Amino acid sequence: MSPIPRIHNHRGGRSKWQKGLLVGLSAGLAISYMIFVVVSGRYALSQLISEGDREHLRVALLSQAQSQQGTNAQQQQQQQQQQEQAVPLPANPNSQEKHRGEQQPAPPPAALRSPPNANPQPQPAAQVPQPPAAAKPRDLKSKPSEDQEHAPQLQLSAPALAVGVHSIIPIEEGTLKCTDSPPRKRGEDGSIVYWRKWTEETPMWSSPFKPKKDEGPKYVTFEPDEGGFNNVRMALEIFVLFALATGRTLVLPDEYPMYLLGQAGIMHDFDDFYDVEGWANNVDVLPMHKFLEKEGLTGQLKDGEMPPGNATRFDLRRPLWEYIRRATDIFPVGPDSHVVGIDLPTNITTMEELMDYRPDFESFSHGRQLLQYGPELQAKKSLHFTSAMDGGNRYLAHFYSFLYFSDPQVDAFMKRFVRDRMHYKDEIFCRAAKVVDLLHAEGKDEAFEPYDAIHIRRGDFQFTETRLEAEEIFRTVEDVIVPGSLVYVVTDESNATFFDSVRDRYRLRFYKDFYAQAELKDINPNLAGMVEQVIASGARTYVGTYFSTFTGYITRMRGYLGKNPGYYFLKPYKDALQSPAKDFYASDPNFSREWPAAYMGID
Ligand SMILES: *[C@@H]1O[C@H](CO)[C@@H](O)[C@H](O)[C@H]1NC(C)=O
Ligand SMILES: *[C@@H]1O[C@H](CO)[C@@H](O)[C@H](O)[C@H]1NC(C)=O
Ligand SMILES: *[C@@H]1O[C@H](CO)[C@@H](O)[C@H](O)[C@H]1NC(C)=O
Ligand SMILES: *[C@@H]1O[C@H](CO)[C@@H](O)[C@H](O)[C@H]1NC(C)=O
Repeated sequence: MSPIPRIHNHRGGRSKWQKGLLVGLSAGLAISYMIFVVVSGRYALSQLISEGDREHLRVALLSQAQSQQGTNAQQQQQQQQQQEQAVPLPANPNSQEKHRGEQQPAPPPAALRSPPNANPQPQPAAQVPQPPAAAKPRDLKSKPSEDQEHAPQLQLSAPALAVGVHSIIPIEEGTLKCTDSPPRKRGEDGSIVYWRKWTEETPMWSSPFKPKKDEGPKYVTFEPDEGGFNNVRMALEIFVLFALATGRTLVLPDEYPMYLLGQAGIMHDFDDFYDVEGWANNVDVLPMHKFLEKEGLTGQLKDGEMPPGNATRFDLRRPLWEYIRRATDIFPVGPDSHVVGIDLPTNITTMEELMDYRPDFESFSHGRQLLQYGPELQAKKSLHFTSAMDGGNRYLAHFYSFLYFSDPQVDAFMKRFVRDRMHYKDEIFCRAAKVVDLLHAEGKDEAFEPYDAIHIRRGDFQFTETRLEAEEIFRTVEDVIVPGSLVYVVTDESNATFFDSVRDRYRLRFYKDFYAQAELKDINPNLAGMVEQVIASGARTYVGTYFSTFTGYITRMRGYLGKNPGYYFLKPYKDALQSPAKDFYASDPNFSREWPAAYMGID
């Protein structure tokens, strides 16, 4: 297996992407990075033991190394005085230009699966993070403001110990097991499986903030985004990672009717889409009614207020959220104005120091302020993320553009968690696999993967510039999806004649064409959208709708698979995804597209 993602050089139009990717993923880097990982892993482990009580960043290294060297690391948690502080960024209108093109770090290699000694050629370690050292707490340099005068000093964890998150054992490929077809593995030709399997030996990271036994649990509650499922998903990714990073228990809403997923009166909870039980090794999860039973009815939330009517289940959402907003502490900032830092080293106390330590922070924050998660927020029993209801903050943003992990190892761990643990349930992948098999059978004479896919969002979409005729859409992209191709079409267009103008040039296939053959009707009809996303992720070439978070997730999954993420049929954005090295971070914190930072260099 080559460490470089497979790129099919088909019918031209790929060379830009290919070059960019190859530059970013040079084999030399792969090797030196691997050597660094091994060396610094050992380094960190010895630090971990010898630095003793000074350190309070708790790292659970569930590896053999740890079982040999004892578990004192886990007992080294030490409460320190810290503070949350919003550090204003210097205004820099040109920041975007300045960072484009030159300063983006070449992402570390996408796949590091060879054993450490396979090819011990030392390479210049230009892009490799320095082995971090334990840092002594130091006073704030900047003069504290009036109300900060008596606040505790900024003392955050040194990153040294977090190096343990990096896997030094080969990562196992994920497998999809379906009842009615042979298992599929990640990395097999045409596979739609992108996740890696986490095993007992996979080194884990656990939060330095995790409450001690005698403290009692702390919680994260959230109002699901009120938009379509993919907006709900994006916000959920933020909340799950926030809970993971802060050691809080995640309170998941009980089933409710989701927007556009109300077919047949079906209500949903997150178990319907995700293997929530599989998160439990890393994040404690509690359903809302249990949370209300345990903390609400016992008067342990703010002011001892009980849930309305002493209920734990609510038919209407509003009274529940109004109560939760009163009975918990509302998370103070949203993704339009702030980024949230969770693991800054102790001795980074000013913006200048942060910029020295992480020159790419500016590309990440993109003019937003930094809120540092510290003891003040940590002291809150329950932190609540709102939705846009009644003027609340809306968390319609990418987790990797809102939650900031300064240690690249921790950052990569978080991104792997989303890739490996937050993929759709097997049931969804198994249905998609059937359709993919049928498409493969139909297009088996074509070179490489035999079908392309296009997502044309019309319906209730508010971005009217995307409402083009089929003829214009296909003309715009006919250099990447050439006439004659077998094209799987994902659309909410119900007008049956809409595609007539292109039917003589393309072999179009729709979900309903596979309804009987792939036995799609025996699954919850509300899962259709997710099944279709997976089908599109497996296509040779993908063309999507700009601004659509549904399309966004398809391009992310293709990134996870090592495929070219795709194109857009809206002309100004057509090639937006074709320069991964240049546009690495989310330069626009909004949701309109995905960015390579989500999936490149995270292993
Ligand atoms: C923080 O501490 C590390 C290790 O002691 C050191 O290399 C680094 O220069 C320090 N950074 C600042 C801003 O003092
Ligand atoms: C809820 O329970 C508390 C304590 O058990 C009781 O005092 C209160 O009257 C109840 N409220 C309602 C609306 O039933
Ligand atoms: C996100 O997009 C909205 C609407 O396009 C815009 O008003 C807002 O400023 C954007 N937020 C950021 C942080 O760029
Ligand atoms: C259906 O689409 C065709 C082609 O775009 C258009 O001419 C026709 O007016 C549409 N019909 C309806 C009912 O919208």
